[in-house]
Amino acid sequence: MTQRTIIAPSILASDFARLADEVHSVEAADWLHIDVMDGHFVPNLSFGLPVATCLRPHTNKHLDVHLMIEDPERWAPDYAEFDSVTFHLEAVDGVDGACRLARVLREAGTKAGIAVKPKTPVEPLLEHLGEFDIVLVMSVEPGFGGQKFMPEVLPKVEALRARIDQEDLDTLIEIDGGIDANTAAPSAAAGVDIYVAGSSVFGHTDRNAQVEAIRSTASA
Ligand code: DX5
Ligand code: ZN
Repeated sequence: MTQRTIIAPSILASDFARLADEVHSVEAADWLHIDVMDGHFVPNLSFGLPVATCLRPHTNKHLDVHLMIEDPERWAPDYAEFDSVTFHLEAVDGVDGACRLARVLREAGTKAGIAVKPKTPVEPLLEHLGEFDIVLVMSVEPGFGGQKFMPEVLPKVEALRARIDQEDLDTLIEIDGGIDANTAAPSAAAGVDIYVAGSSVFGHTDRNAQVEAIRSTASA
């Protein structure tokens, strides 16, 4: 499939006391990214299913759940009401375990995503990309917003793009961490479809202008 430009602000960087208003402040966005952290897989705790569920009635946008949790086999199916559910390769039993959980999620009616930390190679996934709707490449160590983009992950995006194009797959490539209007450009050149942006969007008063700035460099 041809490369897309989907901008997904991460509500991790928003004011949790005003979540519904924060969601409405990014009307220009395509998707909304929901970072669930358990304090074990990553050294930070964000929020879980009850908070995410409260958002659903406030938007019709695609809600993109990113599970940074241990034991996703146990918890991920509970998120099947959301539009996509991405879990980490490092948290399951290898690629076989990842494919098994992706099938469970798809059968439950949601899109299945697999995420990799910056140092985790994507080669083992390349033969199995048809099992996943999304591959999320972390461009910071997961756990916190506001970190610096790591351009050294982009060769993984290039490898994924090449295989997706070669096999004409629908799998989307998502980049997450340190994305702004500058870092979106090399990400786009490497083959990214979905741009997660936390602090670069919610750290500004005109969030929609930030979303459009990322969109314009990503689609240039
Ligand atoms: C980090 C999260 C990201 C985070 C990105 O572990 O997965 O989605 O919200 O935040 P920024 O865009 O500030 O790097
Ligand atoms: Zn995320």
